[in-house]
Amino acid sequence: MAKTPQKLHIKTFGCQMNAYDSERMAEALAEHGYTPTDDPAEADLVILNTCHIREKAAEKVYSELGRVRALKRERNAHGLDTMIAVAGCVAQAEGQEMLERAGVVDLVVGPQSYHELPSLIGRVREGGERVVATDFPAEDKFLALPERPTRSQPSAFITVQEGCDKFCTFCVVPYTRGAEYSRPVAAIVAEAERLARGGAREITLLGQNVNAYRGEGPDGCDWSLAKLLKRLATIAEIERLRYTTSHPRDMDDELIALHGDEPKLMPYLHLPFQAGSDRILTAMNRKHTARDYAELVERIRTARPDIALSTDIIVGFPGETDADFEDTLALVRRVGFARAFSFKYSARPGTPAASLPHQVPERIARQRLHSLQSLLDEEAKAFDAATVGRKLKVLFERQGRKPGQIAGRSPYLQAVHGEGPKDLIGQIVDVDIVSAGPNSLTGVIKSGINP
Ligand code: SAH
Ligand code: SF4
Ligand code: F3S
Repeated sequence: MAKTPQKLHIKTFGCQMNAYDSERMAEALAEHGYTPTDDPAEADLVILNTCHIREKAAEKVYSELGRVRALKRERNAHGLDTMIAVAGCVAQAEGQEMLERAGVVDLVVGPQSYHELPSLIGRVREGGERVVATDFPAEDKFLALPERPTRSQPSAFITVQEGCDKFCTFCVVPYTRGAEYSRPVAAIVAEAERLARGGAREITLLGQNVNAYRGEGPDGCDWSLAKLLKRLATIAEIERLRYTTSHPRDMDDELIALHGDEPKLMPYLHLPFQAGSDRILTAMNRKHTARDYAELVERIRTARPDIALSTDIIVGFPGETDADFEDTLALVRRVGFARAFSFKYSARPGTPAASLPHQVPERIARQRLHSLQSLLDEEAKAFDAATVGRKLKVLFERQGRKPGQIAGRSPYLQAVHGEGPKDLIGQIVDVDIVSAGPNSLTGVIKSGINP
């Protein structure tokens, strides 16, 4: 593809993995003359990186395509061409159907084909065809993508594992992201070292099932996530490590122990449990009980007593009764979460749960979500309130909303802001937490400030 100067706008929906993919797509296209823009109206290429997880998420794409269509027309009137690409999980799920439903779309590209983007774009541009690329290629797309840039954010992501073999009955991910695949250790270490040289102080390892990671090690053996984290902890500039998202079934003893032994591993764990009723957990194909989960949490807390726990919960799964829902509330009370994400069940085409009898009426699901969220809010507030009066180490990542403010994250992933100089961005600094608001903590910065 010729290197003509072009502007690229990427809009990202969905999870952190999509955010990571968007960065990698932008980097791959930068080598072919594309510079990023925040303004879709000046973009020669618009990529929508989409999410299929719930109906609402998937619908957003079509309303966004409406806006993009209007922009394309407007640019056309000025003699400018605009190429529209849809990437991500809706692209994977709908493929050819997407071209039929949305005439404005030129290119549909699934998450396993991003390294082919430059040549796919070339086919659209030169051949004038509309292209769908949604095969799961055998080759490692990460190897085919260019190296990470020389500058990075203080907190950076690396996808280490993709896909899912768990097949929870409500979930589209095994269909949109394919089978579990783990990247080799050497590639991840090289990427982490490059990010560290570029200024990253914190790295979050990403995977749909990140603790199922089994990647080829430099010794030829398969390495676990714990072993990979230990290796990454030896990179001096990397001061903090995190990983997300984990499945309770893959939380092994080695990984639990690491939470007690490795100071760089941050005391925060996102561990979805989905439902507190064993009957519903079985119907979801989660392969753990509520008690398994509660006992697992106890073992994790024995290793790291102050760990902040976060979770995902679904209400209104088909067949969920009031008693089942009470079990969910009971498990929430028993564990005590610092943070949580809760959703109304959304029937997804092609998933087994979508055709189960006894779908829960919308009104009941809404009520359940409401009472669950007030309990979760209480717990989150209590967690944040307990950190007021403490001194926490904060990694400052950016300027705050108000002038003179900088903002970052505590070890427990709480958002923290305080008054401080911009040159503290990228540093880990002691902060006295003085108050807790609904969205963030306010702190007084102790170190790095000249008297
Ligand atoms: N293991 C995954 C989960 C991805 S989906 C990960 O890496 O994050 C994130 C959350 O969305 C799930 O944990 C689940 O709580 C929720 N979810 C998935 N499918 C859903 C559906 N059909 N309806 C409602 N919520 C859903
Ligand atoms: Fe979806 Fe379950 Fe896999 Fe998570 S573990 S991605 S919820 S199928
Ligand atoms: Fe959505 Fe795909 Fe992530 S469905 S949550 S973008 S893996």
